[in-house]
Amino acid sequence: MKQDQIRYFLALSREQDWARAAQACAVSEQELVRVLKAVESEYGCALFKPGGRFAGLTAEGHEVMAQVHALSRAFGALEQCFRYGQRKHAVASLLERRSVSPKRLCEPAPDDEAIGLMIAAAMSAPDHGGLHPWRIIMFPPALRDVLANIFEREKLRRDPLASDKDLQRAREHATRSPALLAFVISPKARTRVPEREQLLAAGAALSNFLNAAHQLGYGAIALSGERTFDATFCSELGLEDWEHLACFVCLGSIAKAAPARKSMQPSTRLSTWVPCDAFVHALRQPA
Ligand SMILES: Cc1cc2nc3c(=O)[nH]c(=O)nc-3n(C[C@H](O)[C@H](O)[C@H](O)COP(=O)(O)O)c2cc1C
Repeated sequence: MKQDQIRYFLALSREQDWARAAQACAVSEQELVRVLKAVESEYGCALFKPGGRFAGLTAEGHEVMAQVHALSRAFGALEQCFRYGQRKHAVASLLERRSVSPKRLCEPAPDDEAIGLMIAAAMSAPDHGGLHPWRIIMFPPALRDVLANIFEREKLRRDPLASDKDLQRAREHATRSPALLAFVISPKARTRVPEREQLLAAGAALSNFLNAAHQLGYGAIALSGERTFDATFCSELGLEDWEHLACFVCLGSIAKAAPARKSMQPSTRLSTWVPCDAFVHALRQPA
């Protein structure tokens, strides 16, 4: 049975009238009757009760109609399955993104052009007022040892009894990943955009940056740690008093992929608003 025949059958079942079924299928009544009568002769016995007007289905007609409905449901399920597949493919890159820890990263680091694209993606994030309340500091390879000294000094301030191993680990946080940059939240004063929206805009920008890195095939991870809350540390990196060091972003090629994410249930993050009884009651009262 062809798809058109199924469509005409279903319309007839719904409309119970040749003319209305034809209208619903956007064909002439003669064409619809011709197609369904052809099915009838192919089937080998009467499916429609005789008469000029539609007078209902015969017993065999009801059997065929039941199969047509089953086929239609199966087509519907298949279509839904294909649609979901296409939609999932469209967002696959977002669903598959994983943070890649520094120990899984290797050279080469992304070049300036790739980093420029990541920043352009960050600048495309939702941002009330287009304030871009954030900035990125790049640490050139030649200065990573100087940065390591700053990391080591911060560790000693926080833990004066830190062992050589601890200090070495602190230095490695500055030197290990192929590329390192700092993501700074830089809220703008004297604007009508509330600070919490600026923080969200900065978070959205960071997220776009990390997604762009992933889409370009690089590994990336945002890491903060206690040092990002240390005022002296932040000042040595050139932050202003009102700025926050949100995190460092480690970037590189991927030596070893992070394990796939466990399956997620979007429904756990979604609820449907239900107005409270008192509110519904108040709305029903005449003004
Ligand atoms: C601003 C920011 C700071 C973060 N700091 C740390 C950190 O210091 N240590 C850590 O283990 N994860 C930190 N994370 C989380 C990781 O970057 C990463 O998101 C987490 O390991 C989950 O991995 P996934 O991104 O693959 O889901 C931070 C995330 C953000 C957004």
